[in-house]
Amino acid sequence: MAQKTEIIVAVLNGPNLNLLGEREPEVYGSASLAEIERATQESARALGVKCSWVQTNHEGQFVDAIQSLKGKADGALINAAAFTHTSLAVRDALLAVRVPFVEVHLSNIFAREPERRRSLLADLAVGVVTGFGADSYRLGLEGLDALLVTSRPTIRYLTGFSGSAGVAVATRGALLLVTDFRYDEQARQQSGAVARVEIEGVSVWDRLFKELGGSTQAGNLIGFEAHALTVKEAERLSSPVASAWRWKPAAELVERLRVRKDPGEVAAIRAAGKLAAEALRETLAAVRPGQTELAIAGVLEGALRRHGSEAHPFPTIVASGPRSALPHAHTSPRTVAAGEWLLLDFGAVVDGYCADVTRTVVVGARADDSQRALYTLVQEAQQRARAGVRAGMSGREADALARDPIEARGFGAAFGHSTGHGVGLEVHEAPRLARTSADPLPENAVVTIEPGVYVAGRGGVRIEDDVHLSADGPVLLTDGCTDLVELV
Ligand code: DQA
Repeated sequence: MAQKTEIIVAVLNGPNLNLLGEREPEVYGSASLAEIERATQESARALGVKCSWVQTNHEGQFVDAIQSLKGKADGALINAAAFTHTSLAVRDALLAVRVPFVEVHLSNIFAREPERRRSLLADLAVGVVTGFGADSYRLGLEGLDALLVTSRPTIRYLTGFSGSAGVAVATRGALLLVTDFRYDEQARQQSGAVARVEIEGVSVWDRLFKELGGSTQAGNLIGFEAHALTVKEAERLSSPVASAWRWKPAAELVERLRVRKDPGEVAAIRAAGKLAAEALRETLAAVRPGQTELAIAGVLEGALRRHGSEAHPFPTIVASGPRSALPHAHTSPRTVAAGEWLLLDFGAVVDGYCADVTRTVVVGARADDSQRALYTLVQEAQQRARAGVRAGMSGREADALARDPIEARGFGAAFGHSTGHGVGLEVHEAPRLARTSADPLPENAVVTIEPGVYVAGRGGVRIEDDVHLSADGPVLLTDGCTDLVELV
């Protein structure tokens, strides 16, 4: 939306939006309408825009509010809520008044029930912002003309392209991917159906700016991923050639969409979880006292590859004996002795999607009583969180499912990391299951559940599985076989 001073934008909110905050927080987020209004007013002030704000549950009043815009507002942000899908009266009012408006929705209506995927208003709108939660209002107001995407997982998410070099731009209704000659065939194959692919022999960035000149206008506002740009790339945005556009750091917009996995994404993570289990089974059958951590990691990584993992999403952790008390140990040349813990934290990748698994076993002997007690404590905490975690629960509540029983037994200080994190195209992504996270866990997120207790000098136990937060509750995507394994 244009950004001169004196611009007046009316924000109209339809039925049930007065209940935001308490109403289906897993779909609409935890912010109340008053909080969204405050944030929107703040963004409006920064843009030099004046905002009026209306909410009504009544169709007639909504129609009256639209009619009253004539001559009074330069534009409108409209979240017609359920009227979006049903109301010809609202459509007729917009047709009559002809005020430019942006349709906004907190949830992504196109990823919801069939009856919500249809908007009776969208074809009359300047644009539609749907699925960015409370941020949809701010984005509607800012009206980014394009988003420059530089982070590899997000490029992959939007275009399918899995190469290691390239930049993408999403303009309204079009995607552009610029990469170099090494990826010519691959990029066309992976992205040709959804994006315009340009191959550049000299400078991908110069080419990007050239192409942008054709698909945007001078002065357009282009968002960039502030969290995913190197200093060098940021310098390119302040170069003379880039000064044709206005550049604006954008929040983690696409990451927020990536949190909610569709069935294909869930299936890929499940496939990665399945092959991870097979690789682990094969590896444990070959583990003997006297082997080094590095040798065991080699066997595991080989098995992961043989079973079809595309990559190792992070350096495999194999930590033995007292080193298992280092939550993120580097695999070392240390030799594993009989009766010691062996902690294996590893991942598998299928179609770009990661599974993340940790198992802790005892090598070459039966577990002693203190090992068994420690293991049972972590296992019970993990089971409790795995079974109890739900979409809509805050990250803090989910974390507490595993933390409470560990704290109750006096081991709180020995569990110093969070209970879990999102997993998908990246092995660590949103959301977080942590004491510090008040955000609700979105439906269809996939998260790890990985409590651990670490006793310096003696060793530690961590158990990790991946869980899909489906509408019907948590669904395990890894094998969930956590009974204590004693390799005797
Ligand atoms: C909504 C989506 C509508 O389908 C629903 O009826 C609403 C809210 C949204 O903002 O996501 O009430 O407009």
